[in-house]
Amino acid sequence: MMNIAIDGPAGAGKSTIAKRVAKQLGFIYVDTGAMFRAMGLYFLRNQFDMEQKSLLEEESKKIDIALKFENGEQQVLLNGENVNGYIRVEEVGKIASIIATNPAIRTRLLELQQKIARENHVVMDGRDIGTCVLPNAQVKIYLTASSKERARRRYEELIAKGEQCDIAIIEEDIIQRDYADMNREIAPLRQAKDAVLIDSSDMTIEEVVHAILNEYEQKK
Ligand code: DC
Repeated sequence: MMNIAIDGPAGAGKSTIAKRVAKQLGFIYVDTGAMFRAMGLYFLRNQFDMEQKSLLEEESKKIDIALKFENGEQQVLLNGENVNGYIRVEEVGKIASIIATNPAIRTRLLELQQKIARENHVVMDGRDIGTCVLPNAQVKIYLTASSKERARRRYEELIAKGEQCDIAIIEEDIIQRDYADMNREIAPLRQAKDAVLIDSSDMTIEEVVHAILNEYEQKK
């Protein structure tokens, strides 16, 4: 099976790019962040005190995460419920980043992620795909952009949705999440040795997609 791994910090445009690359190639797009977010949503809904780290693993045993694909779109099922409509908010992203430090939770999701990649041609994005989940992926990309540019993109997105927001606070949140994801003990975000670095700060979506497709053509 062909596996394309795309890692990078929050807001670098991984999902937009990965979706387009997958569509072009007829592969499945697997958004691993959505799995951590679905788990995060469970803890948020159950008003779990995130300070009680020792109870995280025990509580997580009550959670079943599954994926299904509808018209090429990934749907995440949390204990059987499709939660795609609830996981894209910052509050859930923050909890996802906290639970992502737990080894037992990571191992469970890792098994699911590896199984999907064994059975399908995939473009998979996340933080540790090239380094841990799919170390043998034929193509590895590390996609990043400056925190300023990532904050600007997020700001535009929120404004387009009619939401009130402050670009300085968005950038501060991005910097904090980068720090947490890059400095955790297990599977921290970093560029795999054999990954190609793409800084999209001054690139269009089309240019980034083109660069990845080129890479794929050379490696396949
Ligand atoms: O990409 P995202 O913002 O949807 O991810 C949410 C959080 O999930 C991210 O801050 C860290 C965690 N995550 C991870 O640890 N490993 C992955 N492969 C994907 C996400």
